[in-house]
Amino acid sequence: TDLWLDVAAVDDIPDGDALGACAAGHALTLYRVEGEVFATADLCTHGAARMCDGFLEGYETECPLHQGRFDIRSGKALNAPLTDDIRTYPVRCDGGRVLVRFE
Ligand code: FES
Repeated sequence: TDLWLDVAAVDDIPDGDALGACAAGHALTLYRVEGEVFATADLCTHGAARMCDGFLEGYETECPLHQGRFDIRSGKALNAPLTDDIRTYPVRCDGGRVLVRFE
């Protein structure tokens, strides 16, 4: 069964920026682009870096450690040294809260 969990207030995420969050034992990064919110795993698939410390440009987030980039909509790894995509989570905004779906 699907589980939607409240992870943050929408307004806690600056537009065009990212925020680290934690729910159900998962470390997440939330991103806000033109009012829309996206969620990925926080840990980079390449090493010990947190994507919430990275740099967001458009729909691409850049890892702070070796500048690997992921598309936050699909989780797709876009360049070297990344080889593995990052996990993404379905997001819904309701009453100013960000809800993330865990399966
Ligand atoms: Fe993220 Fe290397 S740890 S690109």
